[in-house]
Amino acid sequence: MKTIVIINGPNLNLLGEREPEIYGPQTLEELNREIEEYASGKELILKFYQSNHEGEIIDILHSYRNDCDGFILNPGAYTHYSYAIRDAVAAVSSPVVEVHLSDIRSREEFRKISVIEPVAAKQFSGESVGSYLKAIDFLLSL
Ligand code: DQA
Repeated sequence: MKTIVIINGPNLNLLGEREPEIYGPQTLEELNREIEEYASGKELILKFYQSNHEGEIIDILHSYRNDCDGFILNPGAYTHYSYAIRDAVAAVSSPVVEVHLSDIRSREEFRKISVIEPVAAKQFSGESVGSYLKAIDFLLSL
């Protein structure tokens, strides 16, 4: 049995009502349910977190650092400038897969840069919930 910790960062609690033309109509609860259904039967324990706070995201990474087989992290806008989250991702030994619902490379200039990517095990971007499902398969393949 593997344990994967899924962390959604700032503003992702508003999925469904937040810019649905970019992020889709699914709420975070619905997104998590779809991930849970995909994972069922895969010998996986999933733990779901959402936080709007940089330090809290770092605390979650720290608290599971010796206690999970991998992380799936959507850092929201922190993706583009949080060296503190980048350092936490580099510090934990479990692999961290960076995911995005939208395609960060086809949007505004500031979104094209991810400071997390160089220290992430992999990045999946622009596939909606599919980014999370691919991250699960990637972690299972390790
Ligand atoms: C996002 C992309 C980020 O640029 C944005 O700030 C988000 C969501 C995504 O999942 O597409 O909050 O990480």
